[in-house]
Amino acid sequence: MLLRFHHCRSLLKPISARRFVSTQIDRKPLLVLGLESSADDSCASIVSSTREILSNVVLKQNKIHESFGGIHPLHAQEAHQRNLPLAIKLALEEAKVKIDDLDAIAFTRGPGMYGCLSVCAGAAKALAAASGKPLIGVHHMQAHALTPFLTASPTSPAPVFPFLTLLLSGGHTLLLLCTSPNQFRILATTHDESIGQSFDKAARDLEIPWELGKGSPGAALESFAFTPLPDSPTPSSTHQEVTNYDFPIPFRNQLSFSYAGLRSALTRMITTNPVETMSLLQKQSIAKGFMVAAFKQVEEKLAMGLRKIEQEEGIQVEGLVVSGGVASNTYLRTQLRAKLDQLSPNRSIPLHFPPPALCTDNAAMIAWVGIGRLERGRIDELEVMQKSKWGIEDCEADFEDREEKQ
Ligand code: KG4
Ligand code: ZN
Repeated sequence: MLLRFHHCRSLLKPISARRFVSTQIDRKPLLVLGLESSADDSCASIVSSTREILSNVVLKQNKIHESFGGIHPLHAQEAHQRNLPLAIKLALEEAKVKIDDLDAIAFTRGPGMYGCLSVCAGAAKALAAASGKPLIGVHHMQAHALTPFLTASPTSPAPVFPFLTLLLSGGHTLLLLCTSPNQFRILATTHDESIGQSFDKAARDLEIPWELGKGSPGAALESFAFTPLPDSPTPSSTHQEVTNYDFPIPFRNQLSFSYAGLRSALTRMITTNPVETMSLLQKQSIAKGFMVAAFKQVEEKLAMGLRKIEQEEGIQVEGLVVSGGVASNTYLRTQLRAKLDQLSPNRSIPLHFPPPALCTDNAAMIAWVGIGRLERGRIDELEVMQKSKWGIEDCEADFEDREEKQ
């Protein structure tokens, strides 16, 4: 058995997915194990093609990274090496599933931190090799964008193509047009840093403890900015309240994001008025001003993107999907609904947010894209490698090229 794997390269090729799907799909729901370790969460999940999340394990590393003020790549990789096997064990136990019951192993192939990605890639490849199950390397941002299809319910129906997508995370700030599960066009991306990174650095600079946001610096910044302070002279809990600190909104007439200027403005404020000497109220106003300006920029780009697609290109969008860790922000959710209603007063454009726990990194979204890929016969070979940089427009390009040639 071992010799076959060592010496016969053809045995490293995946089994024919088309044959596999045609014999399996009518019989029972497909079950896929998803693995994710692109940043600082070690995740494993089992999802069925009937949209059941049988398990969804997320092992966090915030305690390791908080003292660095952000994710330390090497420590993150080591923590994944320690934690991912346990996450897989727990996911199988919780779902009451054995490896033999699975139809495929999916993992985050990219984009993300190279060393971190190597952990889920290595684990998935080893599991697929040992079990003979198909292997599927998934694009992380495609997975964020398609999560609302997994979480759809009678009260929150699945998106309809074509739709706009805002993917707001620690690594990305993207406005996209999505016309099918694997076709994305970038309308705007960031010129410098991502919105999530800017929140993480603002939380660090304002010395806001991550535990306020259950281990997430962005969530901690939100909680600090919008929770009323005891003895506050003005109630600060309402999202509509105007802040005293105005932050710049760059590239006002361009379909492009930028968050570096916002952070420089924060640095200047803190230099003239150090955090240690600030009153709690001042600090809260700054945190709120920062977040409000960051999201104002998102609203402006959404308006420009919608105008471009609908008015200039004549494409009617059927909804807006907002996903990625930053999409769990309650203030953003309220603002975007109001913005869409203002932009489209005669037609209510459906707004799709995954539940907060599935906005931040998780492996259920990876397993879900894995199911779609399995159904389309788009299986990777065991030699597939992680990709730290990988444009979403090319999320299934390897297969498109191959299928065109056939
Ligand atoms: O998608 P995600 O979990 O990981 C990446 O793919 O990067 O996004 C993580 C980002 C971090 O920057 C985190 O601080 C931010 O999402 N985040 C938030 C909130 N929850 C997480 N930002 C603002 N408000 C939140 N409630
Ligand atoms: Zn993510």
